Amino acid sequence: MNNAPSTMSLSGTSRHFLSVFDLTRDEILSVFDRAAQLKAAWTSGLREPRHVGRVMALLFAKPSLRTRVSFESAMAHLGGSALYLGPDVGWGGREAPGDFARVLGSYVDLIVCRTYSHGDVEELAAHSRATVINGLTDWNHPCQALTDLFTLQEHFGSLAGRHLAYIGDGNNVARSLAAACARLDVRFTIAAPSRYQVDPAFLEQVGEEEPSAQIEQTDDPLAAVAAADAIYTDVWTSMGQEAEQEARRAAFRDYQVNDDLMRHAPSQAVFLHCLPAHRGEEVTDSVLDGPQSLAFQQAENRMHLQKGLVDWLLDQEIR
Ligand code: CP
Ligand code: NVA
Repeated sequence: MNNAPSTMSLSGTSRHFLSVFDLTRDEILSVFDRAAQLKAAWTSGLREPRHVGRVMALLFAKPSLRTRVSFESAMAHLGGSALYLGPDVGWGGREAPGDFARVLGSYVDLIVCRTYSHGDVEELAAHSRATVINGLTDWNHPCQALTDLFTLQEHFGSLAGRHLAYIGDGNNVARSLAAACARLDVRFTIAAPSRYQVDPAFLEQVGEEEPSAQIEQTDDPLAAVAAADAIYTDVWTSMGQEAEQEARRAAFRDYQVNDDLMRHAPSQAVFLHCLPAHRGEEVTDSVLDGPQSLAFQQAENRMHLQKGLVDWLLDQEIR
């Protein structure tokens, strides 16, 4: 699961969104502004069809509830449409991946891709005329991380001086959170057993992109949450790691986010989870359903944030 991308950030004429670092800080804040406006409109019952006739393909090699349905709904609200493409289209099997990308990119305006290897999404983007959005790879999950920081901004009013503590596996979600926190000047602490921490080479790349990034790793969850404004966790066993489930359960046993851990955090701290959750493993029911949890607001915000992202990306198109 350590298939690092060949580049951190793509350049060129297409504004693909494969990694948080494909957007500048100001661009992320523009996406947040659009998302907030679109959320306010949606909440008051308005569906402004800004992108009539635009088509999104969702090319998914892994399961999804949130990513798939939030993008499909976002496209419907914007006046466009979305096509879900499963294994029957033959990506990676029936023809050369470059040919596949070239053809698919000539039919649609946007491709959201969820798969295993990050390199496969990079290759798709390299050959696609349509804008490619990363809907999760083993390497990262940038739409999730933007949503997470948007949710914190919505809750606290501002991200200035905030501190996010991530308790759990140094996985795709953790890497994108580290990048998003670095871009937006949020302090980021990860607590994980040493062999499951975020790879140091990745953190070096984050430091090169954002020299003022405040990122720390520890194996002590109590220390990590002591001054945190938000406590975040994700599953201990990600999609594709099912064979490691028992070993991971044992390794992460002391890293559950439960009432005791939350009591060691400041009283204003909120709880975040990208979902789906494995209740009783990385988080207890009492925390996930408790008063500090923003997890379901966060899940709803996937749709609003991604609608803002799609709106922004379509405005960047060079045709
Ligand atoms: N958080 C998230 O990406 O959820 P799905 O796997 O359901 O898309
Ligand atoms: N780390 C998890 C995130 C799911 C949204 C996975 O990759 O399965």
